[in-house]
Amino acid sequence: MNRYDSFLSAAARVMQESAIRRMGAVLGKGPEVISFAPGYPDPSTFPWEHFRATAADLLSGTDGSVLQYGPTRGFKPLLGAIVEILESRGITAATDELLVTTGSQQGLDLVARVLIDPGDVVLVELPSYVGALSAFNNVQASLVGVRQEADGIDLDHLDEVVGRLRAEGRRARILYVVPNFQNPTGLLIGTDKRTRLLEWAERNDFLIVEDDPYRDLYFDAVSEPDIRPIKADDRNGRVVYMSSFSKTLAPGFRVAWIVAPGPLAAKFELAKQAEDLCTGGFDQRMVYEAYRRGWLTRQIPMLRRHYQQKRDVMAAALDRELGDLISYAQPRGGFFLWATLPEHVSADTMLDAALRHGVVYVAGSAFFVDGSGHNTLRLCFSAPTPERIEEGVSRLAATIREAAEKPRAAAASPGRY
Ligand SMILES: Cc1ncc(COP(=O)(O)O)c(C=O)c1O
Repeated sequence: MNRYDSFLSAAARVMQESAIRRMGAVLGKGPEVISFAPGYPDPSTFPWEHFRATAADLLSGTDGSVLQYGPTRGFKPLLGAIVEILESRGITAATDELLVTTGSQQGLDLVARVLIDPGDVVLVELPSYVGALSAFNNVQASLVGVRQEADGIDLDHLDEVVGRLRAEGRRARILYVVPNFQNPTGLLIGTDKRTRLLEWAERNDFLIVEDDPYRDLYFDAVSEPDIRPIKADDRNGRVVYMSSFSKTLAPGFRVAWIVAPGPLAAKFELAKQAEDLCTGGFDQRMVYEAYRRGWLTRQIPMLRRHYQQKRDVMAAALDRELGDLISYAQPRGGFFLWATLPEHVSADTMLDAALRHGVVYVAGSAFFVDGSGHNTLRLCFSAPTPERIEEGVSRLAATIREAAEKPRAAAASPGRY
């Protein structure tokens, strides 16, 4: 196999497998393993009946365009629907600022290709979404982390990091954030901080890449102002915003979108042309019909209740089984609960034992670009049933107790992304 190394591009040589995708392979080992690893929506929430009826209509054969190539920017009526959705989030977008993407993952790839040269510094949260880290890594970005606090990114540390980079003469002009129920921590960036971030971007000549797939999935007393996109107050074109239908409808359609100042959107369109010509036309129409017929909007309150209940089940089980050993902040929305283990326990080395106990998670170190986070882990509560969550937490508790009792010297060194 090694003989192909000489054929690889410099970019391909540094590509790395995502820790979450790797866990997906572990999942394939059988139903006896309870997985808290990938951030999958619960398929029982998919509106199957509606999908069947809409698919039958679309595939009646009367409209050839359903299975035809389409515009790179996206299916026009869907673009119109997205403009309305954005309006409801406080964002006014012109159609020349908008592009349908094949998942937000493609949006991240477009950002990487269009905005980043090899060696450019991209600032990311500590910890940050691994899919974004992969996209940026693939174009040979240099990833630099900024700490988070209870209300999201630490602005003092952000200034400190930028000051240091300037002093070193390094080019840094992009900050990537997930402000609502962040993957992996579940954190929300505070409202005041959002305003200050925007001011910071203007002062420092930065673009903010705002990735917002979870905002509709809030629990408890979260209200609209708490999840207002940074983009909503962006008067000077400092924010590239992306969101997705993956978490509210179904990720299998691979339909998402990106909003950016016109000149950047035009470049994203060119980059997308070379990636896939256009996002699948059938998929876009399915999503559009879900919006037009009203069932996308109707299903969101159900999703909030559904995932909040699962969050409650996981939190109660963790408190009961592991209250003395782990700490975590109660996520107020989204799919993820972020837990911290005792300092001497490594979530990386504990993974084998977890598998033996029949449970799997994503070790937190995968989300840190600075090699830290060895004693953290991400638990996703969205996909398993409440019964499986209870059982999975019991298995996790047995694993963690075993690991915590081992002599400290046995704990391994931190893993790296
Ligand atoms: C923060 C974040 N961004 C982007 C994505 C990718 O979403 P999509 O299915 O739209 O590609 C995910 C998926 O888990 C995510 O958590």
